[in-house]
Amino acid sequence: LISRAFRNQFVIPDFQDFTKHIEDFYWKCKSNTEGKVASYIPQLARMSHDYWGISVCTIDGQRFSIGDVNIPFTLQSCSKPLTYAIALDQLGSDVVHKYVGQEPSGRNFNELVLDHNKKPHNPMINAGAILVCTLLKTLVIPEMNLAEKFDYTMNYFKRLAGGEHLGFNNSVFLSERESADRNYALGFFMREYKCYPEKTNLRECMDFYFQCCSMEATCDTMAVISATLANGGICPITEEKVLKPEAVRDVLSLMHSCGMYDYSGQFAFKVGLPSKSGVSGGIILVIPNVMGIFAWSPPLDPLGNSCRGLQFCEELVNVFNFHRY
Ligand code: DON
Repeated sequence: LISRAFRNQFVIPDFQDFTKHIEDFYWKCKSNTEGKVASYIPQLARMSHDYWGISVCTIDGQRFSIGDVNIPFTLQSCSKPLTYAIALDQLGSDVVHKYVGQEPSGRNFNELVLDHNKKPHNPMINAGAILVCTLLKTLVIPEMNLAEKFDYTMNYFKRLAGGEHLGFNNSVFLSERESADRNYALGFFMREYKCYPEKTNLRECMDFYFQCCSMEATCDTMAVISATLANGGICPITEEKVLKPEAVRDVLSLMHSCGMYDYSGQFAFKVGLPSKSGVSGGIILVIPNVMGIFAWSPPLDPLGNSCRGLQFCEELVNVFNFHRY
């Protein structure tokens, strides 16, 4: 970082000027009071409607954040690209995609539906993410016991985050599991269609999926994870090579086409960047080879995307030419 600074070779040469714009967008979106906080479990419903934070981390490690960037929240569906990335990194794309497709489903994220090959459509919806969890548990780390599997996954997430704060919220995990009729239905539906590798213990895999959704991080931590994805799998803070570049390319491709629930097509059209949202109100936004951004605000629109987060993404590409096309 320091040698780049001396040579003035930052990927965003005038970072201060850039952050002033981010600040403007922050205040503009703050007054957006649309949306409803997810209420399917009480632990999420308790989140304040007002929380709003944006964190930025460039691929050369410059950081900026504003608002509620140090309050922990559970990753929920923002964990889906991460578990998918680990599966790709460890098993390779061919093996992973024997079990899960690459097509947007055009349906709700938790809909009881498989593609014409009787596979889940993609790893960004619940069925696909549950399946990816079975691959991790059954194929990647079969020899480990349950506690070791949890640690393995959390450590991977931590390495993506450059060692920054990452925790686990047990009460969210317990209540996710209590109110998971649809996810269990998806799990058993896929078992009926023989979607899983042999020796899959479905109940344990469902727990593992809920555990991944219940990992807890802050906006600042998530921006580092996003920057690791922007940087081809090398964490910009530690310079550790956490993921293979091929794995990152595949993750970003599917975030681009499937990351924003049933708004993914419109988001790809308007914003043109790989992203993933979750019901806790987060959006991972990746600007490949430039920076990772994380925006967090709990109120969601009817499709499940954070209202302030979405507005921010749109404001950003209206001013900066980050749209891929
Ligand atoms: O599986 C669920 O319903 C939640 N724990 C996570 C859902 C979420 O964020 C939406 N997913 N695409």
